[in-house]
Parts: sequence; structure tokens; C-alpha cells
Amino acid sequence: MTITYKDPDGIAGMRIAGRLAAELLDYLAQFVKPGITTNELDRLAEDYTTQVLGAISAPLNYAPGGHTPYPKSICTSINHQVCHGIPNDKPLKKGDIINIDVTVIKNGWHGDSSRMYQVGEVSIAAKRLCKLTFDAMWKGIMQVRDGAYLGDIGHAIQTFAEGHGLSVVREYCGHGIGQKFHEEPQVLHYGKPGTLEQLKAGMTITIEPMLNVGRKEIKELGDGWTIVTKDHSLSAQWEHTVLVTPTGYEVLTLSANSPAVPEFVKPAAPAMSLTVA
Ligand code: MF3
Ligand code: CO
Ligand code: CO
Repeated sequence: MTITYKDPDGIAGMRIAGRLAAELLDYLAQFVKPGITTNELDRLAEDYTTQVLGAISAPLNYAPGGHTPYPKSICTSINHQVCHGIPNDKPLKKGDIINIDVTVIKNGWHGDSSRMYQVGEVSIAAKRLCKLTFDAMWKGIMQVRDGAYLGDIGHAIQTFAEGHGLSVVREYCGHGIGQKFHEEPQVLHYGKPGTLEQLKAGMTITIEPMLNVGRKEIKELGDGWTIVTKDHSLSAQWEHTVLVTPTGYEVLTLSANSPAVPEFVKPAAPAMSLTVA
């Protein structure tokens, strides 16, 4: 597989898919409360995606090499779950933190985004982890421009995370995205400046750091999908789909209720898309 560069039609398609993914995350927010099950969230997401957005849930039956087909429409990763948690019938409880990761396909284009949600009041440690992981994602996004190196993104995320005592999961990374869910290149969330491939205008990639309060090591559960921290420490993740532009970046997975862009990202974001020169 090779890197794909989007022409103006492709960029238009990616903008729409990205916005719909963000709108799905907006929609789900109201339901994340103690007592709801992740299967109920999955059902709400599938219905909204197909009936309101007129789109397709990319995770459902997704089966990259060697994996058993993913059985649900969204990923729901709670507390020490790092990513790819499979929705089930267990109710959420007060104090949980949950990542909901959605990917929609609209007119053949993919939009991929995830956010952290807090179930009722959560601990100060959990809030801090969610906020720092959000900021780490934006530190990575801010590196994106034509000519920047993938290593610049990884380095920005890693130094920010480790500077706050958090560890960076190594086994899962961001990725190119377009008419395929996962394209080249891999976008590592750790690394050295000026290393790996250079970004070029027209590339669309995801940046989706997973940060742990404890050690970086992870393991896969027997379901073949769910990834958890080996030491059972809390983990968080945020994800945006981003277009590389000649002068900077455009975040494609923003919507009316996207969490506010951090202060350190300049300039202030317009409502639906953020373009930085
Ligand atoms: N959405 C995830 C990502 O950000 C991938 C999930 S694959 C699935 O790349 F099959 F678990 F849905
Ligand atoms: Co992704
Ligand atoms: Co995702």
C-alpha cells in the first residue's frame, strides 16, 4: 500500500466524512451517563450513522489481516482499556472514563475521530489524564504542515506526555486515511524530530495518542480486540483526522460541540474547521 494524496474532490469528500464523524460524537455525548451500557451506545451510534447521517459504520465487520471481524459499530474503551474495547451489556458507572471511537464512511470517504467522556463525577487523576491527552493530541496536530516530518509529530506528543509523567503506548498509532480506513503512513506518537517520512499537502492522516498514567506496556484480551494496560493503570485517547495543507493543517473532524481547542493553539478556531497558516 502507498500514501494517497487527495485532490480537491477527495478533500471535499474527506471534509464531509470528518464532519459527520464529529457530529456522531456530539450526538452520543448526551447518553453517556451512569447506567447506560456500551451496547446501547453502539445501537444509538449505528442508528444515527445510517438513518440520520446516511453513512456507514466502518468498524462493523472490519477485519484487517489476522483479526476476527470487529463485531460492533463503535469502539468503547473504559478506564484501563487503551483502545478497541468492544461494546457489551455492562452498565457504565459513576467515575468511569470512556473513549468512544467512531469512523463513518460517506460517499466512500472515511472520517475517524474519538473523544473521552466522563461518567458523572470522575477523579481528579482521571480528569487530568483526559485533559493532558487532549492537549498532547493538539501538540501533535500543531506540527502538521507540508514538509514537516512524521517524527516531529511523535516527538511533540512524547515530550509533552512524558514531561507530565504519562507514558505513550507504542503498539498502536495514527494512520493515513481516505477511501481506505487505514492507509500509509503510520503516524507514531513518539519519536525524534526530523525523522521518518515528510508530510505533503493533500495527505490526510489521523493523530490519536493513547497515554497511560502508569507504564506504557499493553496486552490484548482474549476477545481478540480489546487492548488494556498491563499494569491496569488508567489510559486515555483522543483522535482527529487532519488534512496536510501547503501552509499548515486543517482539522477535518470538528463540529458544533467539539471540545474547545486549547489556548496554546493559535489562532482561535472558526466554528467548523481549523486552518492554520
Ligand atoms: N478507529 C480505530 C482507529 O482509530 C480503529 C478501530 S478498528 C475496529 O484507527 F475494527 F476496532 F473498529
Ligand atoms: Co484512527
Ligand atoms: Co478511530
